[in-house]
Amino acid sequence: MPVDTSSLSGHGQTVCVTGAAGFIASWLVKLLLERGYTVRGTMRNPDDPKNAHLRELEGASERLSLWKVDLEDFQSVREAIMGCDGVFHTASPVTDDPEQMVDPAVNGAKNVIIAAAEAKVRRVVFTSSIGAVYMDPNRSPDAVVDESCWSDLEFCKNTKNWYCYGKAVAEQAAWDEAKERGVDLVVVNPVLVLGPLLQPTVNASTVHILKYLTGSAKTYANSVQAYVDVKDVALAHILVYETPSASGRYLCAESVLHRGEVVEILAKFFPEYPIPTKCSDEKNPWKKPYKFTNQKLKDLGLEFTPVKQCLYETVKSLQEKGHLPLPKQQEDSIKIQS
Ligand SMILES: NC(=O)c1ccc[n+]([C@@H]2O[C@H](COP(=O)([O-])OP(=O)(O)OC[C@H]3O[C@@H](n4cnc5c(N)ncnc54)[C@H](OP(=O)(O)O)[C@@H]3O)[C@@H](O)[C@H]2O)c1
Repeated sequence: MPVDTSSLSGHGQTVCVTGAAGFIASWLVKLLLERGYTVRGTMRNPDDPKNAHLRELEGASERLSLWKVDLEDFQSVREAIMGCDGVFHTASPVTDDPEQMVDPAVNGAKNVIIAAAEAKVRRVVFTSSIGAVYMDPNRSPDAVVDESCWSDLEFCKNTKNWYCYGKAVAEQAAWDEAKERGVDLVVVNPVLVLGPLLQPTVNASTVHILKYLTGSAKTYANSVQAYVDVKDVALAHILVYETPSASGRYLCAESVLHRGEVVEILAKFFPEYPIPTKCSDEKNPWKKPYKFTNQKLKDLGLEFTPVKQCLYETVKSLQEKGHLPLPKQQEDSIKIQS
């Protein structure tokens, strides 16, 4: 029986989520449906089995429609957005191949803002990235990374960080286009996102953890990385959409860990896997974590999931989805019980 949504915050509102079947967007669609929104999810091929999980979400049969949209085809973007109250622009290539990354990300962002302006939507929430924020070799090690920071484009180019370059240029294009056309734009800048998967395939950020469990990474790098849980990222998008006073960028991060700390946490929870114990750089001291602030999202009421819990849930989910073999012991005990 359909749930009565009349008392929920999203009741009567239609929103468009681009790239709806992706890792982050799937959680976003799930939470939006739970809050009573009617959701138009876009993807390049709605018939692809990798998108089928969306139809299983609670409320999907009544309030989710799937739209075939190519972000670089303005007409298709326009049709999906026309008649919507809001837009969550989450779709983006996630690659370091400059040709596949830069133009599609920039043109996609522009097309979404132009279509949102025509449709007179209330607000566009754009999923940018820490990659558009922190790639700056001139930042002092003591500086606190916050929403005022922008990645240095020349540095991204010279170091061939085309993903960071593409995200920074796409976010800038979205701000420029929104200003010119009077669109209310709010941006979420997540760090590396982990947590349970709703989609059947493994996305790029989850591979980051998978490689430490399968034996494919023999050592860990001498580097640091900031992490955040996928459910928190999805909720951050909704909070900035639903809070009228929200504005500007929102850094979405829980904590920064050295890779050595990550493998240590994984090995404590899952000692059965061949998790690396050696750093690839045995000469230099461990890189220090950078400082950051997530106060803007905390002020909107977001309570971040601790990174240890997030790492645990990521691995459990990879096991449940069949991407990671169950450790031998557990397999045997399951066989005995069944
Ligand atoms: N995961 C992270 O750690 C992380 C961190 C910071 C920011 N982000 C950002 O969050 C967003 C979602 O990332 P995710 O991790 O959820 O990635 P994902 O699972 O790979 O989802 C990305 C989605 O974008 C769509 N897409 C990719 N290339 C496209 C193109 N050329 N044209 C149209 N659609 C395209 C894909 O949809 P179809 O193939 O179905 O069309 C895909 O479902 C991206 O903007 C990413 O930059 C991710």
